[in-house]
Amino acid sequence: MINIGILGMGTIGTGVVEVINENAERIYQRTGERLKIKRILVRDLKKKRAVNINHLLTNDPEEILRDDEIDIVVELMGGLQPACNYIKMAMENGKHVVTANKEVISKCGRDLFEVAKQKGVNLLFEASVGGGIPIIRPLKQCLAANEINEIIGIINGTTNYILTEMTENKMDFYEVLKKAQELGYAESDPSADIKGMDAARKLAILSSIAFNTRIIPEDIYTEGISKIKPVDILYADELGFKIKLLALARKHEQGIEARVSPVLLPKRHPLSSVMGVFNAIMVKGFPVGEVMFYGMGAGKEATSSAVVADIVDAVRNRSNKNITLCTCFGDEKVIPAEQTE
Ligand code: NAP
Ligand code: HSE
Repeated sequence: MINIGILGMGTIGTGVVEVINENAERIYQRTGERLKIKRILVRDLKKKRAVNINHLLTNDPEEILRDDEIDIVVELMGGLQPACNYIKMAMENGKHVVTANKEVISKCGRDLFEVAKQKGVNLLFEASVGGGIPIIRPLKQCLAANEINEIIGIINGTTNYILTEMTENKMDFYEVLKKAQELGYAESDPSADIKGMDAARKLAILSSIAFNTRIIPEDIYTEGISKIKPVDILYADELGFKIKLLALARKHEQGIEARVSPVLLPKRHPLSSVMGVFNAIMVKGFPVGEVMFYGMGAGKEATSSAVVADIVDAVRNRSNKNITLCTCFGDEKVIPAEQTE
């Protein structure tokens, strides 16, 4: 029996509980272990929950972080703090950690991976980029033989959903944003989506792994979609373009170019056909050439698929501790944005 403590019971926490319950037999067949959710941390004990877990709720993090019987802590609270400290504390107490938190991994990843290494525990974060799309593991493992030269992608579901609805259904920006929040796509502070910070955090994680470097979100030129007006979309369409919020990281002799910004993409470009909450990431490398990853980039179902896959991996690797540790984050230079216009 593997005991799990979950920090956070919002959109993704709910999805994770549902998948663990509904796929219990399948998970048992694949790991030889039964998963038991022992405790769940929330802020508000009185809030109505979508699943029947009230008996597991606590608002005291110590009940999870210091419980010797808990093997895996799953962080799904969001935000930098206290999430980062809780992850650190959990690992210091010998627990494996799974997180979907791109803000924490992109800003404190390096320190946290050090703690994971020292304590011999797994720190897994597949859900932090691309929702349900497998991208962290492919970059770290399947493409490990390559020299990666470029990553280019649509890696924020909320903004792609907004741009799609504004284009296809002529919907108003704030009306679609509200819909994206109701559907559970947006961050709790949606300005992180709209202003491009969420995509920059994800690009920082992807490029740190791909280029064996350390890129933090602040290194990345970041511009969001808040200035895009319906008339821009209309003119772009007439001229044969789509407006997309694109994340790009490219290796140059002098260092790494990294940016997030709205761009005009020719309609025939493969990323132009990525619609709604879908994400796509193109990776170019040698010897592989070009590969593309595509799928639901946000939302309860897709994201909990990635979180539970990490839990399964942590169960499988709990005594083979080095397999899934992130070995990225070297010292490549990031080129200032004005030098790469
Ligand atoms: P959410 O719906 O806002 O849920 C957050 C949960 O954390 C809530 O249950 C909240 O408690 C709890 N919480 C927050 N701060 C807390 C604190 N200080 N102490 C105790 N509990 C706290 O968030 P979400 O959409 O599920 O996202 C969770 C994480 O997954 C974030 O890192 C997000 O970036 C990431 N992620 C989300 C998606 C997506 O599509 N939504 C996709 C990929 C990754 P209450 O319920 O009591 O308020
Ligand atoms: N708010 C994020 C998005 C969630 O819309 O892409 C997935 O990381």
